[in-house]
Amino acid sequence: MSIGIIGSGNIGSAFARALARAGISATIANSRGPQSLAALEAELKPFIKAGTPLEAASADIVLVAVNWSKLPQALRDLPDWNGRVVIDANNPIEAPLFKPADLGGRLSSEIFGALVPGARVVKAVNHLLSHLVASDPTEEGGRRVLFYSGDDAAAKADVAALIERLGFFGIDLGALAIGGKLAQFPGGPLPALNLVKFG
Ligand SMILES: NC(=O)c1ccc[n+]([C@@H]2O[C@H](COP(=O)([O-])OP(=O)(O)OC[C@H]3O[C@@H](n4cnc5c(N)ncnc54)[C@H](OP(=O)(O)O)[C@@H]3O)[C@@H](O)[C@H]2O)c1
Repeated sequence: MSIGIIGSGNIGSAFARALARAGISATIANSRGPQSLAALEAELKPFIKAGTPLEAASADIVLVAVNWSKLPQALRDLPDWNGRVVIDANNPIEAPLFKPADLGGRLSSEIFGALVPGARVVKAVNHLLSHLVASDPTEEGGRRVLFYSGDDAAAKADVAALIERLGFFGIDLGALAIGGKLAQFPGGPLPALNLVKFG
């Protein structure tokens, strides 16, 4: 399965590092163009290649990690997702003010889902600080936990398999209406917990 990453900041590049550590290839994109990613590409060669958002978005599994207010612009000009799997790693809050976005009572993943029509959305990789996504998931003697949730069982199975290959311990939180709420930041009880599964 091909993998794309839209957003090359803290989380996008941390996910790229996790993939490269596991020997998994991916295309990563940002707003400034592939040439701005030369250093990351050099660090993570031969696994991580810089591309355009369109190239990253055409992968089978696409992780999106973009500042909340910039998501509409980042996702606006992409073609229909056509059933591909999109990992929502985003949180509705951003630097420098860290003021929660007004979601009008909706879950952030519902709002995100409307920006990727035709995609099968799985919420994951949003609850950990980026350095914990990038570092060895076994460094504390067990396997670091990553949560995932979604409404499509096959899409969740694809993401669960990827989490497993990365060396994390995946925990299925159920449907987006349940898991999205538990993992949402701010608001849910799970964000920022560095949980490790032993045994
Ligand atoms: N930081 C964390 O520890 C953490 C943890 C969990 C979840 N998150 C969530 O992950 C998301 C990203 O956070 P971050 O800390 O990684 O942010 P960040 O370091 O500011 O990176 C944001 C990335 O989004 C890209 N971007 C912005 N507009 C774009 C556009 N129109 N097209 C393509 N790419 C665009 C930026 O491109 P340029 O590089 O070209 O500017 C940048 O690479 C946020 O929703 C955040 O809440 C963050």
